[in-house]
Amino acid sequence: MAREFSTVGVVGLGTMGAGIVEVFARNGIDVVAVEISAPALERGRATLKGSTDRAVAKGKLAEADRDALNERVHFAVGLDALHSVDLVIEAVPEHLDLKQRIFAELDRVCRPEAILATNTSSLSVTEISVATSRPNQVIGIHFFNPAPVMKLVEVVRTVVTAPEVVADVEALCARLGKVDVTINDRAGFIANALLFGYLNHAVGMFESHYATREDIDAAMKLGCGLPMGPLALMDLIGLDTAYEILDTMYRRGGRDRRHAPVPLLKQMVTAGLLGRKSGRGFYTYERPGSPVVVPDEATPLATDGALADGARAIAKVGVVGSGTMATGIIEVFAKAGYEVVSVTRGMEKSAKVCEAVKTSLNKGVVRGKLAEADRDAALGRISWSATLDHLADVDLVVEAVVEELSVKKALFASLDEICKPGVVLATTTSSLPVIDVAMATQRPADVVGLHFFNPAPVMPLVEVVRTIRTSPEATATARAVCAALGKTGVVCGDRSGFIVNALLFPYLNDAVKMLEASYSTADDIDHAMKLGCGYPMGPFELLDVVGLDVSLAIQRELYLELREPGFAPAPLLEHLVTAGYLGRKTRRGFRDHSHR
Ligand SMILES: NC(=O)c1ccc[n+]([C@@H]2O[C@H](COP(=O)([O-])OP(=O)(O)OC[C@H]3O[C@@H](n4cnc5c(N)ncnc54)[C@H](O)[C@@H]3O)[C@@H](O)[C@H]2O)c1
Repeated sequence: MAREFSTVGVVGLGTMGAGIVEVFARNGIDVVAVEISAPALERGRATLKGSTDRAVAKGKLAEADRDALNERVHFAVGLDALHSVDLVIEAVPEHLDLKQRIFAELDRVCRPEAILATNTSSLSVTEISVATSRPNQVIGIHFFNPAPVMKLVEVVRTVVTAPEVVADVEALCARLGKVDVTINDRAGFIANALLFGYLNHAVGMFESHYATREDIDAAMKLGCGLPMGPLALMDLIGLDTAYEILDTMYRRGGRDRRHAPVPLLKQMVTAGLLGRKSGRGFYTYERPGSPVVVPDEATPLATDGALADGARAIAKVGVVGSGTMATGIIEVFAKAGYEVVSVTRGMEKSAKVCEAVKTSLNKGVVRGKLAEADRDAALGRISWSATLDHLADVDLVVEAVVEELSVKKALFASLDEICKPGVVLATTTSSLPVIDVAMATQRPADVVGLHFFNPAPVMPLVEVVRTIRTSPEATATARAVCAALGKTGVVCGDRSGFIVNALLFPYLNDAVKMLEASYSTADDIDHAMKLGCGYPMGPFELLDVVGLDVSLAIQRELYLELREPGFAPAPLLEHLVTAGYLGRKTRRGFRDHSHR
């Protein structure tokens, strides 16, 4: 028989605590919610009220249920009010000494059989537990932000946590409608261990002016389908909390430099820029606690796209190549009304590309997304050629040939001879330095990277890569073209992996290392990222889709360029590739796909 939890206590009603109170009260459990002072208690009460009122306004909660929910919560200042609860969850700031003090006090105040839980993200549950006389009844219950929404709970058992306490807490999570993964006490558990290196890296990109906050966030949302960009997520988590988590993970997790908090974070925390809760972090919010972003001095000026910032007018576009990317890019430009010259290495290849573009456009017609007349007009705008000479009068060339530097350089040298002055020359490379390609021409100022995502007609993101020689006009032109294509162009520097791959692949590699260390299973890790962070796919699902060989190649490039020890490819990834387990395409990767 699982233990009955009829009353629980929550200590600290900040970002997490207020949400945790709501989770329990919504599920019919009485809550004693405590804070350190009367004003803090009032803030917590207001947060709960705001959240439940919003749920009513959205039609997700009946008014009567809201009132019943609020009646289940008893607010108090100080821990003494917790004398008769069955379980306490502590959600005070991420400091070991503070948590240890609170647990020692809880041990004194609470009934001997009460379970004492911490919501810590990164501290050692074991170290917290030894501040009490009942470490076997201490456990980690790690909720995700926002607690009422996110389905995942990480249940953290220490070496001394009693098995029945773990079982009782697992049953409680199920009663709350949550999915739990139960794991051992390691810095960052599953989700944060995989998340925080990525978040810190994104802050580093912002700090070094590699890309703007809007572009970094848009890249990860649109390129990976994440629910929020990393900087907006830092604001939601709270920069002070994020700083403490990183700092603890750095010290506990083997001094991985990727967890050493980026200096900017400390400066922002010291300046009181804590994120949503203080009304300002990476972004500015309507007021403290509000999720609504308002413009500030760093907000880019809204332009009408067309000829902003010296952007050049583009009417005719050349696309070189005959693969998947070239085919998609031809379709994208033709549909957007550009005149397109497709150049391949032979009319046979051109015929194939033409067929592929037709098939894809026809699919749009069948699905009712494209009118027949628009399909015909798009096809009518494309001319097919097997010689670069036909690019003499285009305004923009997009190169999408094989990913080999020598081939791309030779092509750019030819384009330099053939194309008219003022044309913007773009490469779609995903891994080569754009500057290498640019220097094969006499006009590096006109060369940019235009990194489309596959499938180009569907994916809303394009990375616009400017080298140290690219002119502002060429960058502005590329960005305006993306807007005219209905895509979001994000501008970044010319570094391995640009924004998306540089932030995505080390995270995937870390997941492989976690699996390799037998800390958790592929299923639980995938669950943790989907249900805890709202990712559309878990890391192992994604690796199997992308291809393990492709992922390994990207990770190697990142490692070679940045020499970051933490970026070294996971040996397990190398072994799977060597064994020919490349993912879905070979029917086996991290999972066996032969029966699907
Ligand atoms: N922010 C997140 O996204 C997130 C997610 C999961 C877990 N966590 C963890 O949850 C815990 C709380 O983080 P947060 O972001 O909610 O912090 P927060 O700063 O938003 O809230 C902490 C609250 O604790 C209160 N408090 C401080 N000392 C207290 C005391 N002695 N007694 C009672 N209350 C006290 C503060 O007044 C404040 O309201 C941390 O351990 C953090 O790592 C945070």
